[in-house]
Order: sequence, then structure tokens, then C-alpha cells
Amino acid sequence: MQPLKQKAWRNDARAKVTGQAAYTDDLKLTGMLHAVPVYADHVHARIRRIATDEAGAMPGVVRVVTAGDCPGSVRFGQIRRDYPMLAEDRIRSHGDVVAVIVAETREVARAAAARVRVDAEELPALLDPDEAMKRSAALLHRSEGSNIVEHHKIRRGDIAEGFGASDFVLEEEFATQHVEHAYIEPESALCVPRADGVMEVHGSMQHPFSTRRFTAAMLGVALSEVEVRNVPVGGGFGGKDDTAAIVCARAALCARLTGRPVKMTYEREWSIRESYKRHPYRARYRMGVGKDGLIKAVEARIVADAGAYCSTTPFVTWRSAVQCCGPYRVDHVHGDVYGVYTNNVFTGAMRGFGSPQVNFFIEQLIDMAAERAGIDPIEFRRRNMLRQGDETITGQVLEGHTVGLGHVLDRIVDELGYADKFARCTRGRPRPAADGSGADEFYGVGLAMSYRGMSLGAEGMDFNAAIVNVQFDGSILLEAGVHENGQGAESTMILLLAEELGVRPERIRYRRSSTSTIPDGGPTVASRATLMGGSAVVDAARKLKGRIAEILAPRLGCAPEAVGFANDQIIGGAEPIGFGEAMVLLFFAKEFPHALGAFKAPDVDWDEATGTGRAYFTWVYGCQAVELTVNAKTGKVTLLGAAAAHDVGRAINPPMVLGQFYGGMAMGIGYALHEEVLLDGGRITNLNLDTYRIPRARDLPEMKGFIVENNDPNSLSGAKGVAEPTIELMAPAIANALYNATGKRYHRLPMKVEVAP
Ligand code: MOS
Repeated sequence: MQPLKQKAWRNDARAKVTGQAAYTDDLKLTGMLHAVPVYADHVHARIRRIATDEAGAMPGVVRVVTAGDCPGSVRFGQIRRDYPMLAEDRIRSHGDVVAVIVAETREVARAAAARVRVDAEELPALLDPDEAMKRSAALLHRSEGSNIVEHHKIRRGDIAEGFGASDFVLEEEFATQHVEHAYIEPESALCVPRADGVMEVHGSMQHPFSTRRFTAAMLGVALSEVEVRNVPVGGGFGGKDDTAAIVCARAALCARLTGRPVKMTYEREWSIRESYKRHPYRARYRMGVGKDGLIKAVEARIVADAGAYCSTTPFVTWRSAVQCCGPYRVDHVHGDVYGVYTNNVFTGAMRGFGSPQVNFFIEQLIDMAAERAGIDPIEFRRRNMLRQGDETITGQVLEGHTVGLGHVLDRIVDELGYADKFARCTRGRPRPAADGSGADEFYGVGLAMSYRGMSLGAEGMDFNAAIVNVQFDGSILLEAGVHENGQGAESTMILLLAEELGVRPERIRYRRSSTSTIPDGGPTVASRATLMGGSAVVDAARKLKGRIAEILAPRLGCAPEAVGFANDQIIGGAEPIGFGEAMVLLFFAKEFPHALGAFKAPDVDWDEATGTGRAYFTWVYGCQAVELTVNAKTGKVTLLGAAAAHDVGRAINPPMVLGQFYGGMAMGIGYALHEEVLLDGGRITNLNLDTYRIPRARDLPEMKGFIVENNDPNSLSGAKGVAEPTIELMAPAIANALYNATGKRYHRLPMKVEVAP
């Protein structure tokens, strides 16, 4: 990593580094019970009976909970309520939970779980999405007319005309794999039935409000009767959305039924078995290109395996549809993206959310097209890439912010001396290894770029809130509708508020939010925390400053507009007033220095029939490159370097922005070369991190990050976001580098490099 020019500012660093931070499983209460899930070894079956007597009779077992014990709705689903939090009459996947054991200790609960007998009639399992989407296939969910969860279409221009105007047409098929989030901390919940009747939920999650919604639904109570409190989260990456909420809801049900606090902490095997994965995609692309090196037409058909339940499949596949042609101008597009129910593990949100897959396809096609047209791939990208005022494939005009594609591409090409490296690629003719070992190796560089719609887009409700509450000594409490997933969101909120109020960040304490105090601003997903939460914080600060200026202007001897905030002082006119002193004056004036900030995303729109509309209110732009060698005998890939440039709008905490770059690149390397959830007949066979291989430190090359800043007027702070774009470019960059090295294309992930003996 390059040396940091600036120290990272983190409010939670000391507690986490010293091990003092309490994660959910660290919380312990008197009288607390332990809950563990019970699975049945079926992939698809009709349940006849769940026999719990033997388990329930074991000493130490307090209760065995099944679907029939649920006073409210047992069904979960942020988009479609198709997921039984406890199995009803059917098992649709190997991760389905049929019962929960509540016991005095985890050990007893685990032992009892093994004594639950499920009598079920085995049904044929649908494991292939292409089969499952046929009209003749049996339905996984009877309430649905087909196994197709969602079908998004992009219909732009006239595809026949586009291919007619092409000088050549590329036709390629690609496939990607199931991927596990592999957050360090598996799911955990602690639910406390409070004396006032409120169910208090502590848990590791990205979406406290959907956790509240489904916990309240399961208990059959109003939203105000459930309080979800955020606890430090040991990694989410999109995975602490649905499953985390479901685990909390189950624990809450157990707490309600027993009247005691209940903790439910997952073991890694349960987590990998039950939690949703990244969608595997199968894609067929046709790309028509002219001699002029311009893309004329793209036809894409993509099928995503949704697994047994809907989860966020409609939104994930929507992003894939919107971004299916990458950041390029294409006048004629015919795109179809399907999400399909199968009996495999269900799939949902994971960092990138439908973009890592399509970037793997399109960025390879771009390199192939450039080669076929006899044009340098960088030049080819420059000719086709979206520029200010261009229309995306959904007809959205890119305006109102800086379209930074040229900036990120230039930055990578210049900083790496890319042209020289590209000229040295071995293209299938090995060279003597640079280490002097006498072996032969291939050498290559590769690059990929993308654009990414910010935040939830036209399929979501996009707003956020923040509460700033200044005390009379000038200390400040801040709360925002975004949640610390480990990414540094709290620190970013603090830094933004400090900047606006002109105070030291040490004055500000972040109040970890509760669903009972902050308005529902949605989930901390879609790389939206800095943009949405940050804008709400800035709004609150500006409201507060307006009031302070009005009240103190007479004393300062200037107009309210001339009042400024800097260096822990209120300035303007003659003598500055210290920030703390100013707050005392406010209190004496019977004014609360308290503000609720709100930010509503600018309008977006979408026409599902044609796939047209202003899909996202603003976009981020990224480019990544890798340099690698391949041992000509063994096929071993060695990454020599990786670099990323991202236009983030404005970097609020630059070292943490770089932290996102490095983490995303590392995850992207895993996605490209190592990771795959293996399924055998619908059963996951690599259930722990000894067999599910995430990248290790020594798999990682030296990484360089280049922050590109173009303040975005759509954000009150100028900042956009960075979390997801960082993972979505490594697989295509590596694929292109492997091609430039070995002369071979890799169409499947993870890429297994084989060399001829
Ligand atoms: Mo995410 S994959 O939007 O947390």
C-alpha cells in the first residue's frame, strides 16, 4: 500500500483495536437463554410432521419453537414475502430452518437440535435455472405463476438496424458462481422482552428498520413495540440484510414465548448454509461493432439463479439490466435479465449488487471488440465511453454532475505507465521469468472501467435523517439513519458535522442509533451512507447554523448572513464567541440547539415495460488495472500489482476511502480467482472457511489507490460513495490481463488457469 498522507480519523478505532468494542455475542444478560436453528437434510420436500418431543424433553431445553408458535406473520420478504422464517408445510432449500431450540446453554440447545425429527416427503429438486424457468417446470411457490421471480427488459433503438450497421458481431457466453460474503462475524442477535412490553433487539445488521418490521410482524405487534438497537457489526458486505433480520426475528419470538432474554449466535457452518449468496449468472451476449471502432448494438440475455426465495433479486437484476452495457454509448440494445427460483441456496445483496457479474462480461467484450477492430483497448474505450450530456442505454441524460470516466481512465493509464506495460504483454509467447529462476512465464496487464448508479435508484425509497443535539457546554450528540458496518460510517458523519459547524470532531459523540429515536431512513446498503446520511447531517448542521446566526448576530454586531463557524468559534463582526460559550447564550435565550436534518434523493423514474428512465440520480465512475504473471509450466497466477481510481465526488475521510479501495480489490481478487460456494444437489459442500477460500494476505499484490474528486451537486456534502465500485472491476481486469498474458479467454468465474503441458 502506498504510505498515507493523512491519518485516518475513526471514532471507534481504539475500542476495536483494543478488543473493548462489544459485538452482539459479547453481550450477556442474567437469565439469558440460547437459541439454535434446526435444519432438515432435505433440499425440496413436503413436511408431514416435525417431531419435537424428544428434543423438548431434554434437561435444559426450555422450548422448541416451530411455525405454529408464531402469533403474527411467519413470512419474511422485503420485496416479496415468500420466506418462511420457520418452515411451514414445505422445505425449499437445504438452509431452511424447521424449528428453533431454546435452552439454558448453547451446548444443550445444539444437542437437542440433533434430536428433532422431520418426517417429509421428498420432492424433485429444481437446481438448474434454465430448467426452472421453463413453462413446464413445477412451481416452487404456488402463489406465483412461474418460477421467474423477475424479468427486466431494456429495449432501446432497433436491434436489427444496429447489427445491420455493424462490421462484425461478437457472440460470447459467460458464467459466474455463487459467492459467500464471508463477514468475520456470523449472524448474532440478542432479544430482550422489556418490562414495559417492548421487545428490544440487539444485533449485527445493515438494516435495523426491516429487522424491526419483520420482528413486529412475527410477534403481531406495532412497530413502536419493537426497538432495534445497533451493535458494532463485524462485516456486512450486503449480507447483513435479510438473514440478519430473520435471525433477530426468530430470537425475538423465542424471547416472547419464554419471557426471557434470548441470544442466537450463528456458527460459521449455519451461516454459510442458511445465508444468501451472490447470484450466479449465465449470460449470452452479442455485440455489433463498426470499422470505426464504435459499438453499434448489444444483445444480452442473462439468467440469475435466485435460489429458493426472492430476497432482493428483483433489485439486483434491475441494476444488472441498467448497467448491462457498461459505461458506453450504445444506440441499439435488447437486454433481458431474469431472476429464477430454484432449490439452491437463495441469493441476494452482496457488495456490487448485480454489477460485478455484468462488468465481467462487458469489459471482456470491450477488449475483444477492440482487438478485432485493430484498435488499442484504451482508445476503443475513449471512443465509446459515456461523456457529459450523453444518454445511457435507459435514455438517461448524464448531466447535473461530472461524468468522470475520462478522469479515472487517464489517472490509471498515466500513473501506471500503462501503455508501456501493455506493449510488453506476452500474448501467449512466454518469456524467461523476471526472477531469474530459469522458468518461463507469461506477463500481462489488464484494465476495466465502470459506471455505477448511486444509492437505491428508481426501485427504492431514498431518504435519510440525522439528529444533531448540542449540549450547553458545546459538546454535541449526533445520530444519523446510517449504520456502522465497520466501514467507518460514524466517523464520516462526525467529520461532516465537524466541518459544517467548524468544530473539532472530538466535540462530537455519535449516538449509535435505535429505531425508536431516528426516522426510518432505510438500509445501510448501496454505498449510500455517505451520500444519504451525510447529506442529512449537513442539512441538520445548516438548519442549526441558521438559528445560531440569527440569535447571535446582534451580539456579534453583524448581519446573520455574515456569521461564520470556524476553529471552534462563532465569528463575524468584532469579537468571536467560543462555540461552548455560544451554546450557553443560546440556552439563556431559551433556544434548543437541536436540529432534525433530512435529505430526500432527487427524483428518479422508471418505465419497466421498455426499460427506460432516469434510473439513478447520480453516478460514480471507476477504473482498475492489474499486472500479473502466469507460470508457463504450472499456470500459477501471481499478481504483481493492482490499482484503482474512483471518482467519489469528494473524499471526506481519505484514508478510509483508500481502505474501501483496498478491501474491495481484495474481495474482487477472491471473486476472480478463488471463491466459489460449491453445491452438490442443492447442498453446500464447503461450509467453512477452511474449504471456502477467501484471499489471504499473501494472495494480494501491492495495491495503489487514486482518489478522483469531482464534487457532486446532488449531494449536500459533494461526496458520493465508494464501497461497491471497488469490487466490481477486479474480475474483468484480471480476465483481460490473463488474456494479454496467455492469449486465452476465461469465460467463467472463478478463473482456473490451465496451461498446456
Ligand atoms: Mo449492499 S450489496 O447494497 O449492502
